[in-house]
Amino acid sequence: MSKSNGEKTQGIQINQELTDKRQRGMLKILNILLADETVLYNRLRNYHWNVRGINFYTLHTAFEDQFNKIADMTDEVAECIRQYGAYVPGTMNEFIQKAHLSEVPGVYPDAETMVANLVTDHELIIHFLHGDIETIDHKSKDVGVADLLVRLLQQHEKMAWMLRMFLKVHPTADKE
Ligand SMILES: [Fe+2]
Repeated sequence: MSKSNGEKTQGIQINQELTDKRQRGMLKILNILLADETVLYNRLRNYHWNVRGINFYTLHTAFEDQFNKIADMTDEVAECIRQYGAYVPGTMNEFIQKAHLSEVPGVYPDAETMVANLVTDHELIIHFLHGDIETIDHKSKDVGVADLLVRLLQQHEKMAWMLRMFLKVHPTADKE
């Protein structure tokens, strides 16, 4: 057997070592994450369309930049779910049911409140990602998925920081 075939066989064996229960747990984490990313994606689009005030263009552009990044991240999460053989829950109803984040229909906050709301969303996703990474690291032991979540965490941290810098006062904007 060639070396590359040996590595392939070993990879399959390692994946098979994931018990059904552990794999279901991992898929549940990915499904909820996908739902949270989708709610945040939609909030960013909503704010991109509805932001107003003297900083309109800067925020309109910043929100677009973030929803484009999140669209790519969401796609990675969804395709990761498919790689494990499960269908992706891809309807708005399922996203709303599964997400930690919630929608607030019919409300159009001022620009500063929009930014603060988005910081809170990023921080919430960061909080859950920390727990998810630990769970996957200890239970599923799937390094590939843990790595994907770490990359997502880093991107959310950077996006949260960029938005915090728009705020005059925010609890986590500056540490004295
Ligand atoms: Fe646009």
